[in-house]
Amino acid sequence: MAMLENRLRKNQRILGKWARQQDIECFRVYDRDLPEYAFAIDCYGEYVQMAEYQAPSEISDEKVNARREQAIAAVQEVFGLARENIVLKSRKRQRGSQQYEVLSQSKSFFVVNEGPARLWINLKDYLDTGLFLDHRPIRQFIRENAKGKRFLNLFCYTASASVHAALGGATSTLSIDLSNTYLDWARRNFLLNKIGSKNNRLKKADCIDYLSSKYEKFDLIFLDPPTFSNSKSSSNVLDIQKDHGTLICNAMNKLERDGLLIFSTNKLNFTLESESLKKFEIRDYTKFSLGKDFQRRKIHQTWLISHKWSPQTY
Ligand SMILES: C[S@@+](CC[C@H](N)C(=O)[O-])C[C@H]1O[C@@H](n2cnc3c(N)ncnc32)[C@H](O)[C@@H]1O
Repeated sequence: MAMLENRLRKNQRILGKWARQQDIECFRVYDRDLPEYAFAIDCYGEYVQMAEYQAPSEISDEKVNARREQAIAAVQEVFGLARENIVLKSRKRQRGSQQYEVLSQSKSFFVVNEGPARLWINLKDYLDTGLFLDHRPIRQFIRENAKGKRFLNLFCYTASASVHAALGGATSTLSIDLSNTYLDWARRNFLLNKIGSKNNRLKKADCIDYLSSKYEKFDLIFLDPPTFSNSKSSSNVLDIQKDHGTLICNAMNKLERDGLLIFSTNKLNFTLESESLKKFEIRDYTKFSLGKDFQRRKIHQTWLISHKWSPQTY
């Protein structure tokens, strides 16, 4: 327990200072740094989420429970938090629609700041929180490159990337997702940031179907699909390792000649297909797209993709 407290204190000192300098309140402060305390610990303003990795089967339940209690006590002590500000989740590997199930109905939403953006977070009611912390540098990149651009956000979730694009001066944003829950959440994020709905559309659609439609071009596209998707409200099944070539090619059809597509995936051991994508200019952006808090673990991979001979360089 003393070891965990010391590690948390050290990480908090280093990352807390960095976060204040960056004007962010949400960051990962610990990720299985000590193998006996297998948690990912994320700060969300005044709250902390502790996601517990599944312990190997040879470790007894008593030991797992005791370590969990020690870890909660250490977090309370180091961050000076009341127990109700700590949310514990278990991180068994989730597949498909299971990932997006409602856990409870406490409706406990609160607001955090991320640079100029304000975003609604909910740590209790869903497995995910409303904001994927590992993508923070990509949202910043989008904000810094959005001025005067038409931005398309595919699989937009709570549309935090579109909030950043709009705040960065995008002329329009279109955010697409299948889930009414997340589109509602996105709407509330827009309201919170005084982002008008006329130029910032939220569309309920299957992104796979949408990409096969012809009309509308964009200057900046963010494509961050789930690893697997077999949603109830769609007949399409997505397996990102198998389908990303087609998905990227279809998204590139919507990109202006001098536009940029950002493709990111959290799939472990993902490899980018080379054959169908060799007609594009592709740059591995992973090391820039992981913030200081995620550099120890390559939790996602990111590529910047443009048309060959594009007049614009990023
Ligand atoms: C991994 S998250 C995307 C994260 C998001 N890009 C971000 O940065 O916050 C998955 C999202 O994809 C949506 N989704 C899954 N399958 C879909 C599909 N076929 N069409 C549209 N949205 C889909 C889910 O509802 C969920 O909001």
